Amino acid sequence: MKPFFIAVEGIDGSGKSTQTKLLAEKLEQNTVPFHHTCEPTKNPIGKMIREIFAGKQQADEYTIASLFLADRLEHILNPNDGILSFLDKNINVISDRYYFSSYAYHSVHVEMDWIIECNKKCTELLKPTATIFVDVSPEVCMERIKARNESLELYENLENLKKVRDNYYKSFELLKNKENIIIIDGNKSINEVSDSIWNSVKQFI
Ligand code: ADP
Ligand code: TYD
Repeated sequence: MKPFFIAVEGIDGSGKSTQTKLLAEKLEQNTVPFHHTCEPTKNPIGKMIREIFAGKQQADEYTIASLFLADRLEHILNPNDGILSFLDKNINVISDRYYFSSYAYHSVHVEMDWIIECNKKCTELLKPTATIFVDVSPEVCMERIKARNESLELYENLENLKKVRDNYYKSFELLKNKENIIIIDGNKSINEVSDSIWNSVKQFI
């Protein structure tokens, strides 16, 4: 079988990082070779993005969307640690966020069509085997984010998270014939959500 590439998506606080880590543990237990990665990446462009999110730098929303695109292209194509380099070696890849994050977050500020068009090269280079959307209400997410006691990032407020969640659904509707989208109820316990995700991913192993 071809190696799989799973993108885990959701609004801030939905439990993506928790779930991607648990998925990694399950793959390990089942001796499935994999690489665990995320966006924004830890590469120079990803670092620039994190500075903007922490409020240390400012940038226009078109610029921010374009930085994420540049970060993603490097994430896909970098010959040393790009996603394609792992898939070429038959190593499966799981990523905390991918292009649906761009569709959902940036279309609060700029046209969704433009973002989808900008990301066309990424869809040509690498479509996820499945995009797993961990769906949690924005209210619950905000409570979780506040309980984390870390300073809030640029897009982490209730009004924005509601818009982002709506935009995820708009983009799913728009692209449902071109993408494999799996929606998981993320309001349940951490273990229940993890089991649902595992049930979906098992078929690709
Ligand atoms: P994200 O990566 O989507 O921002 P995290 O995985 O960091 O989200 O989770 C945000 C917070 O919510 C963390 O403190 C985590 O322990 C908690 N959390 C995650 N999933 C659940 C869940 N299903 N039920 C309750 N709390 C959760
Ligand atoms: P996040 O997954 O929260 O990273 P970390 O846990 O390291 O803070 O991502 C940071 C923010 O980036 C989050 O608010 C979503 C946003 N984002 C975009 O706006 N566009 C994108 O294309 C991606 C991948 C993320």
